[in-house]
Amino acid sequence: MVEARRQQKIAKKQQDYDELYGSGRGWKYSRAYCLDIMRRCVVQPTGLTSGWVLEVGCGEGLQTSILRELGFKAVGWDLSVEGIKHARERYPECGYIQGDATTIGLVYPERFFDLVYARNMSWFHYRLDRVNRESIDVPVEVDKLFRHVKDGGFFALQVTTDFTGRFDEETKLRFHALSEYMDLLLPYGKVVSMADWGGVTITGPEDCKGKNGLIVVVQKSK
Ligand SMILES: C[S@@+](CC[C@H](N)C(=O)[O-])C[C@H]1O[C@@H](n2cnc3c(N)ncnc32)[C@H](O)[C@@H]1O
Repeated sequence: MVEARRQQKIAKKQQDYDELYGSGRGWKYSRAYCLDIMRRCVVQPTGLTSGWVLEVGCGEGLQTSILRELGFKAVGWDLSVEGIKHARERYPECGYIQGDATTIGLVYPERFFDLVYARNMSWFHYRLDRVNRESIDVPVEVDKLFRHVKDGGFFALQVTTDFTGRFDEETKLRFHALSEYMDLLLPYGKVVSMADWGGVTITGPEDCKGKNGLIVVVQKSK
């Protein structure tokens, strides 16, 4: 019953994103901006210059292709058939998998990736502390993602938030406080870098007021 409901929710999510990407109205980003932020706020803090990277919730593949440009063997994973179709057309040099990211363990062994990266992946827009409105058990799924990171490897989350902890009734999205991300991620290792989406360093909650978006890089404990 619970699993059937979860599958229904995932099918609806896929349909919504297929419609969005299929219509050509998917998000458009400046490659130069995304490359600069990826280099400064994700890759440089890790010290990595090569290795395997997985982007979960890669959408139409821009960030995956940037990770490849920065020297990695990059794989993008997304639920949307249309998103992955566009990613394959636009950036054929990367690898892609279409499917539900809760099933990564069926494809990749544990401790395979040097870096797992998520940018506004849907799981991080709702409750983070238990099963969310989309029937995703976020702590369980984050635990699974970390299992695919090598010991000493990295998990990076780039997510839209204003750090207030507010819930938006209209969109049903949550704009989490820094502490909510820390509660989710710190059990797995230590933060090596935090910045806002402008690349400005964040050192703690006192820096978050008025800031837009979080990019946090966590090094998995050995
Ligand atoms: C807000 S979009 C962000 C896309 C892209 N990362 C970006 O920054 O433009 C959220 C993405 O998460 C994907 N997604 C949601 N649930 C997923 C799941 N269970 N498995 C894989 N991808 C999922 C959606 O298909 C969508 O492409």
